[in-house]
Amino acid sequence: MPLPPVLARLPLPIIGSPLFIISNPKLVIAQCQAGVVGSMPALNARPASQLDDWLAEITETLAAYDAAHPDAPSAPFAINQIVHKSNDRLEQDMALCAKYKVPIVITSLGARTDVNDAVHGWGGVVMHDIINNAFARKAIEKGADGLIAVAAGAGGHAGTKSPFALIQEIRQWFDGPLALSGSIASGGAVLAAQAMGADFAYIGSAFIATDEARASEAYKQCVVDSNSDDIVYSSLFTGVHGNYLKPSIRAAGLDPDHLPESDPSAMNFGGDAKKAWKDIWGCGQGIGAIDAVVPAAERVARLRREYEAARARLCGLGR
Ligand SMILES: Cc1cc2nc3c(=O)[nH]c(=O)nc-3n(C[C@H](O)[C@H](O)[C@H](O)COP(=O)(O)O)c2cc1C
Repeated sequence: MPLPPVLARLPLPIIGSPLFIISNPKLVIAQCQAGVVGSMPALNARPASQLDDWLAEITETLAAYDAAHPDAPSAPFAINQIVHKSNDRLEQDMALCAKYKVPIVITSLGARTDVNDAVHGWGGVVMHDIINNAFARKAIEKGADGLIAVAAGAGGHAGTKSPFALIQEIRQWFDGPLALSGSIASGGAVLAAQAMGADFAYIGSAFIATDEARASEAYKQCVVDSNSDDIVYSSLFTGVHGNYLKPSIRAAGLDPDHLPESDPSAMNFGGDAKKAWKDIWGCGQGIGAIDAVVPAAERVARLRREYEAARARLCGLGR
């Protein structure tokens, strides 16, 4: 199946994934101008009315950039909607996405036909994130256009499946747009995701260590200084299993190697969640590849160089 036009014209097969609290219009704009899909959760705009201003800033800045760079326009942007019952802003945030005809909506923690229909109504594309094949089927049945396979080692809420297993199972029956998420932080890994059958690499943690990210300097430096040994998988902080930086857990007075399980009924994406994610730093296992805090454009430029070098090495293209 050909990719929807909005996803087919990307100069690099990368989606900068939404990061709770951290993503903001400056990061989204920098990602899009560098040639990768930039995204942010609608919930990062607080109060809710701020989303209107942020969407205006993103759409106006990118339109001006495209007018000045007709030969190399920006990549499209995406807004992430948490489709969970604890998100009482969904309707209001969807109305703003409709107002700005957001090109790509990324849905998480619930697939809903009415949300997908609404996005299609303004000509947008829905990518839904899943951690297993059963959720993938359900998402497509409910009308999502594409899937984000969140494999083991992803930052934030992550699955437990090998990326090979997930992509192989999904590609048995689904030939639509497919992104792979989890520990991708180098251009070679982006090419590997494509070689496995994904269309896009979905990259989050690598963008925490950028100038534009709305994270503390200590958090950014911790991403630079850490590697996969410093990541722990726990359900304690939001009720859903995710990956976190151990140093932040130690700083909160807990032992990251002996954490209790959480009560899933306490799952919450409201105000308390913001506090939890601010103190406890979400992060994927792939950060061994990140060695400095740099502007997002520089991170993308390096991914592009590595991607092209990997293609040249493996596919005999150029050099
Ligand atoms: C700090 C942090 C916050 C995140 N917040 C969200 C979010 O609000 N919504 C969402 O769909 N995914 C969220 N994610 C998951 C990412 O979108 C993505 O799946 C993940 O970062 C990819 O793995 P990687 O970090 O190893 O690149 C978050 C990840 C991190 C690290």
